[in-house]
Amino acid sequence: MTSTNDIRRGFLDFFGREGHRIVPSAPLVPQNDPTLMFVNAGMVPFKNVFTGQETRPYSTAVSSQKCVRAGGKHNDLDNVGYTARHHTFFEMLGNFSFGDYFKERAILLAWNLITREWGISPDRLTATVYHTDDEAFDLWRKIAGLPESRIIRIPTKDNFWAMGDNGPCGPCSEIFYDHGDHIPGGPPGSPDEDGDRFTEIWNLVFMQYEQEDNQIVRDLPRPSIDTGMGLERIAAVMQGVHDNYETDTFRALIAASGEFTRTATDGERKASHRVIADHLRASGFLIADGVLPANEGRGYVLRRIMRRAMRHAHILGAAEPLMHRLVPSLVAEMGAAFPELVRAQPLIEETLKLEETRFRQTLDKGLKLLDEATAAMKPGDTLAGEVAFKLYDTYGFPYDLTEDALRAQDLAVDRTGFDSAMAEQKKAARAAWKGSGAKASEEVWFDIAEAEGSTDFTGYAGHDGEGVVVALVRDGARVERAGAGELVAIVTNQTPFYGESGGQMGDTGTITGEKGLAADVEDTSKPLGRLHAHHAVIRSGEIAVGDAVHLSVDAERRAKVRANHSATHLLHAALRHRLGTHVTQKGSLVAPDYFRFDFSHPKALTREDVEAIEAEVNRHIRENDPVTTRLMTPDEAIAAGAMALFGEKYGDEVRVLSMGRGEEASYSVELCGGTHVGALGDIQLFKIVGESAVAAGVRRIEALTGEAARRWLTAREDKLKEAAAALKSAPEEVPARVAALVEERRRLERELAEAKKALALGGGGRAEAAGPEQVGGHGFIGQVLDGMDPKGLRGLVDEAKKRVGSGVVAMVAVNEGRASIAVGVTDDLTGTRNAVDLVRKAVEAVGGQGGGGRPDMAQGGGPDGGRAVEALAAIRTMLEMETVAA
Ligand code: ALA
Repeated sequence: MTSTNDIRRGFLDFFGREGHRIVPSAPLVPQNDPTLMFVNAGMVPFKNVFTGQETRPYSTAVSSQKCVRAGGKHNDLDNVGYTARHHTFFEMLGNFSFGDYFKERAILLAWNLITREWGISPDRLTATVYHTDDEAFDLWRKIAGLPESRIIRIPTKDNFWAMGDNGPCGPCSEIFYDHGDHIPGGPPGSPDEDGDRFTEIWNLVFMQYEQEDNQIVRDLPRPSIDTGMGLERIAAVMQGVHDNYETDTFRALIAASGEFTRTATDGERKASHRVIADHLRASGFLIADGVLPANEGRGYVLRRIMRRAMRHAHILGAAEPLMHRLVPSLVAEMGAAFPELVRAQPLIEETLKLEETRFRQTLDKGLKLLDEATAAMKPGDTLAGEVAFKLYDTYGFPYDLTEDALRAQDLAVDRTGFDSAMAEQKKAARAAWKGSGAKASEEVWFDIAEAEGSTDFTGYAGHDGEGVVVALVRDGARVERAGAGELVAIVTNQTPFYGESGGQMGDTGTITGEKGLAADVEDTSKPLGRLHAHHAVIRSGEIAVGDAVHLSVDAERRAKVRANHSATHLLHAALRHRLGTHVTQKGSLVAPDYFRFDFSHPKALTREDVEAIEAEVNRHIRENDPVTTRLMTPDEAIAAGAMALFGEKYGDEVRVLSMGRGEEASYSVELCGGTHVGALGDIQLFKIVGESAVAAGVRRIEALTGEAARRWLTAREDKLKEAAAALKSAPEEVPARVAALVEERRRLERELAEAKKALALGGGGRAEAAGPEQVGGHGFIGQVLDGMDPKGLRGLVDEAKKRVGSGVVAMVAVNEGRASIAVGVTDDLTGTRNAVDLVRKAVEAVGGQGGGGRPDMAQGGGPDGGRAVEALAAIRTMLEMETVAA
């Protein structure tokens, strides 16, 4: 028997030998088409090559492409498990010619591979052609020698293939395998073609046209070939079975499901095992390609698939979560061909286990409700839409799961009733939102979110992506289009641009598109926490709702933001480690050029604290610890040790970000929706540049990382070198030199003060002699002291009093234009002379008022230092006059 893995390899090698480039499967999330939920055919990754928008270094290629059909145009979910050939996940083998060969060689290669290389009997094969395609008809006759009775002209869409409403398309020719007359069914085009006897195994599409909105609008630049062969179908043919679920890969997965649930795999529970095996593949591959369960978009399709499988695990009586235990079998079967499965195995297991654990908590209750609601119903009846809605809303039953659950009893569900119950709920949500006092200016965002759903953020993995414009907002109102020079908020169905939240600033970058559109995104915000609004200036061209655009984040800026954001987490952990667990985050700002982090702590950090924290953070950076992200409920995250922001509101699911390795694997565990480095080494360097208080009990650290930190350190060093040059010393001697200079300056100041004092005592005052003179019958010393510190006046007066023995002393210090006056009277004269009266007269002379003290010592001052001599004269006059009076 040829294994499925060998068939895949054989197909790739055959076309490789025929000159085709062997191209690995593209991820399931389309990289080049925002309108498509998942890659659903082998040609999707080459779409732009067919239309000529993109060129590759090869003109023929071969691949085995991962595909998922579980939503949108090609949706197989409802049938899976109950038919022989429907899958949510499958592989499409295909060979492609981009303007190289066309119909003839395509038919020749296909025929040679299946009949010569694989030895399938030509007698078993039938071909179909589009009814007007005489050329293909003749080629089948000529190359394959098929009799005309087995070349069937089909006039329907079955033989005209299109990827979707938009994109390349063309007539096609299909090859059918006849399983034999023991199976009911007729050849293609016959009344009983829907029977299982004839299976389509290979579709050769002759790509010639391009469609827009389901209309052919132009010829492709060069006629091309796109072929698609379901690997699972050809495996069934080559392994001599008639059912894809009986091929080797599926048998292995089904056997594992049977073993873990201890149930027979071919009895009445056959469909459940098949659903589980199929959905295991879809879930595993989707998670490996970065899709995680969510309540909207791709994540919701994944959730529906997972929950459908989980209900079937429940039907099989699995007492414990089952799906994650089957992952090793999936990896064993397919990991060699798809290494991403091996890499993502822990994530796949964890995600499945978490979802199943959670879903099981409500599954029983929901099924009981369903049983009650259907107890009185007969086959052919319809379940009320409100019941299906309640199951969805309260128990997390996706609509199609309810449908699937009722299928065995031949009951239907009222879809219209379900939809109107959903609409009711949305209306109530809007009323509640309005009632909560939200701003009227926000209503435009509410309308957009309700009509278009949330923006799917694709930027955890990359910086580039495609999106469809779902709304434009200018000056607070929705518009249909915007042109050059206008400032407009652009909302797309998906975007790699991070919208400002959680302290991390929004991304900047460019949006480009057809019609010459080039727009600069200056900021991205996150209205309602669900939409990403790109605030952009249209540089050229035009943008309109419905346009497909290319979104490109400024990757260099984002890399800096990522490093800074991861550094805040490390800083938080290091602060708690060093200062204690009372430290919690109070706020943060993560910008490209720096970040700041506010936290609760009662006092300033010491130099030792800062040094220890920097060392710890840099150690983790140097050790290049991994950064991992998991999705959990908030409670589970907190149980896992995540630091949750107190009072913050979280959704159903949170991203839990862990940093560390080995014994320190949980060094930092936080809930965070931000973008982060892949490994801590990407931060490169961490430097604290500021530590301050922002409020009572709240400190703020400002810090830099990477190149910004290096530059800051260099700038500091430059300053040190400048200082060293000015001091004419080596940088390392600067501290000692500066300390010495400060000491020297202190000494000089002291000496200067001494010298001034000596000068004052020794005379030198302006226009006055130092020695006592006789005024009014007593000794008198009067001096004006320029530049004298007034604080020293009293001391000087006391000393002069000693010198004068019996008499009066008056000193005027003139400093910065002001006069300060001190008058002393020796004790023997205080009965007749009062220092307070004398100083008051002097103060008047220098334009001041008052003055006070005691009869033996009084002080005062005035603004007019230029009249210091007049102040002394006033004292002298008073002394003389009082003598006369006495
Ligand atoms: N693109 C073609 C298909 O999906 C081959 O059938």
